[in-house]
Amino acid sequence: MLWYCVEARRRDARALRRACSSVSVAIAVFFLLLCTFVVYLPELQQETSSAASANRGVTLLVWTHPFGQYRKLPDCWARYQIEGCTLTDDPLEYPHVDAVIIHHREIATGAAELPSEPRPRAQKWIWMNYESPSHTPALWRLEGKFNLTLSYRADSDIFLPYGYLEPGITRSPDAHLLVAPSRARLQRPRLVAWVISNWSDSQARVAFFYELQRYVNVDVYGRVGIPLAVGSGSVVRLLSRYQFYLALENSQHTDYITEKLWNAVVAGAVPVVLGASRRNYERFLPPKAFIHVNDFPSVRGLARHLLMLRHDPSRLWHHLDWREGYSTVQPAFWAHHYCSACRAVRRSIGSTQVVHSLEQWFWSDPSLSLSRSRDEEGL
Ligand SMILES: *[C@@H]1O[C@H](CO)[C@@H](O)[C@H](O)[C@H]1NC(C)=O
Ligand SMILES: *[C@@H]1O[C@H](CO)[C@@H](O)[C@H](O)[C@H]1NC(C)=O
Repeated sequence: MLWYCVEARRRDARALRRACSSVSVAIAVFFLLLCTFVVYLPELQQETSSAASANRGVTLLVWTHPFGQYRKLPDCWARYQIEGCTLTDDPLEYPHVDAVIIHHREIATGAAELPSEPRPRAQKWIWMNYESPSHTPALWRLEGKFNLTLSYRADSDIFLPYGYLEPGITRSPDAHLLVAPSRARLQRPRLVAWVISNWSDSQARVAFFYELQRYVNVDVYGRVGIPLAVGSGSVVRLLSRYQFYLALENSQHTDYITEKLWNAVVAGAVPVVLGASRRNYERFLPPKAFIHVNDFPSVRGLARHLLMLRHDPSRLWHHLDWREGYSTVQPAFWAHHYCSACRAVRRSIGSTQVVHSLEQWFWSDPSLSLSRSRDEEGL
């Protein structure tokens, strides 16, 4: 799911297809195995330890519908070919279920209470949250209560980002096949778009916008700007008229890369990102697939670069030619999340674990140690 592993798999497939030198195939296979090993090691371990119970189906209780918005629960088999999953939102099932998915917001605001203790033996509580730490209050109240975490962070027990790349065509209903634009059709009618719903002058992204618009014209959409058309796909349709899209996160945290980035990628607008570090973004997509605000010493320098790219198709092409051969997957909220949780619970039947330092973990920045081990692996 992380890009450098996806890329290794893709290169591997290409190498095989061309049946070029066996040495390159061997190297590719080596990296493939290394990647698979590193990424899937925990899953493999769990699989063998619970092989005996692997055929047992499980039931998950969705404790609250996130943000109080009712959504029909998915059929995990029909939608994702994930078997052995029953989902329910009936709280009376609480004594009988294998796991409870608890969305953070409703607990933090007091709109809902945690389930009653003592909990049924062997039942797992799953902490689910897609807001950044800056917008995740009252974590300290939840220490030692949960068994599994489900979030956008790569080091979650159940990791599901806002979006990710897959090589080739994928069967997922949440996938979208990317194409590289023809060189003749690189130019788009408009330059830079920004969609913002929660405007606050204290945010880094707003300060960035104020400065950027001194040098280039930025079309602002959302509550404070031009109203957006409603309906799914409307943002992507809008962005496909733009050369660049400002994918500016509301706060800067490890792995916190939201649908803003993926909407731009799907629409073929080059994302200009503000959020986690460049290095962190590069774990999710190729280095040239985005422009990072820190790539330039000043906002003015960045603005100049955008204007230059508009008139230099070969350099603009450089930001888009990687697309061929990839699909994006934007996991549907919350169907994909529930079904991924269910698969993880099945794989961990019989094991016990507790999330002791939820707050410390969620705020932590493991990028330094991760990048160090990545260097050692030669990736
Ligand atoms: C909007 O932004 C403010 C300031 O950053 C923040 O306190 C608030 O939680 C945000 N609201 C939402 C819904 O994200
Ligand atoms: C889940 O967490 C609770 C609270 O820390 C703990 O008592 C229980 O043993 C854990 N259960 C499993 C199955 O991991």
